Amino acid sequence: MLRRLHPDQPESFAFTPANQEWAEAQISKYPEGRQASAVIPLLWRAQEQEGWLSRPAIESVAEMLDMPYIRALEVATFYFMFQLQPVGSLAHVQVCGTTSCMICGAEDLIAVCREKIAPKAHQLSSDGRFSWEEVECLGACANAPMVQIGKDYFEDLTAEKFAWLLDEFAAGRVPLPGPQNGRFASEPAGGATTLERSASEKHNGSVALAVALGDTIKRIDGTEVPIVTPWLGEKAKGRAKDTDPSVKKEPKPANGLTVDETGATVQEAPAKERAKPKGGPAAPPMQEPGTPPPTMEGPRKGKADDLKQIRGIGPKVEEQLNAMGFYHFDQIAAWTEHEIAWVDQNVEGFKGRASRDDWVAQAKDLAAGGKQETS
Ligand code: FES
Repeated sequence: MLRRLHPDQPESFAFTPANQEWAEAQISKYPEGRQASAVIPLLWRAQEQEGWLSRPAIESVAEMLDMPYIRALEVATFYFMFQLQPVGSLAHVQVCGTTSCMICGAEDLIAVCREKIAPKAHQLSSDGRFSWEEVECLGACANAPMVQIGKDYFEDLTAEKFAWLLDEFAAGRVPLPGPQNGRFASEPAGGATTLERSASEKHNGSVALAVALGDTIKRIDGTEVPIVTPWLGEKAKGRAKDTDPSVKKEPKPANGLTVDETGATVQEAPAKERAKPKGGPAAPPMQEPGTPPPTMEGPRKGKADDLKQIRGIGPKVEEQLNAMGFYHFDQIAAWTEHEIAWVDQNVEGFKGRASRDDWVAQAKDLAAGGKQETS
């Protein structure tokens, strides 16, 4: 397919201050003279900010990386993931049209796009809020047919369900991503016979992370996640340069080490305030399930249990739990499914830990006098 720049281009492009900071931090990953290696992340960030890649955006990235415009243009026009024309201000819908999805009903989904968004791919809807395209396999074939909307996958679709999803987005709501037919993940239609999930697992891993991050259809302006730059040292937080001698060097996650002692990675950084995307309304938060568990004003007899004996709870998490009013194993052991879901969402920086590490089962053992390794 011939991929050309759009005839209507904006006057200029600039990263938001936070995205600029993020971009400079990415460039600092590479040795002197190799900054051009950051071209894809920077183009991607520009697209996440604006929705598409304009010529000024591509040229601005090329300038930041000290590379000829044509080199950045080659990258932007080669990869189909880069949108070279404006997309819907609210959402761009990518419908998988490859084999599994095609034989399971992708054409019906495309018919919905033609009817509800625009007759042709890459056309804006009449209100400018939506656009769509057909894409190659998105790797969710076991849940065909599926679409990607914003950053999330919506799977096991029918034309009716997909039309409903678009209506929900248009009405300012964000439906829960993942399988839309009641399946948990990609288990057989009759239910899993092996690798069964624990009762506390509310969502599959992808959906749980999507809910935790909450980026969904938001344009990324840098305000939503902390800029984590462990290779620049703890103090830097994306601001200090590699050359700052006062900055303590820390190992990169790529060396096989995690960002902190609990195993949290950059991706698990909490979603913060969702800002208004350019030209469109703010992405509303996904509905997060759960009810807060009962808390205590302080530990019994002034002495809290050592919650760090529970795998997945380190000093930082223990501090948060204590601040929330959880001090004892028997408190955690009594959490219900909904309460675990709430805790999963509300332990900042460690979302999903309570269910993933099954704190309740561990706490039951410990409350009954068992002993575990300190986390
Ligand atoms: S064929 Fe559609 S996700 Fe693979």
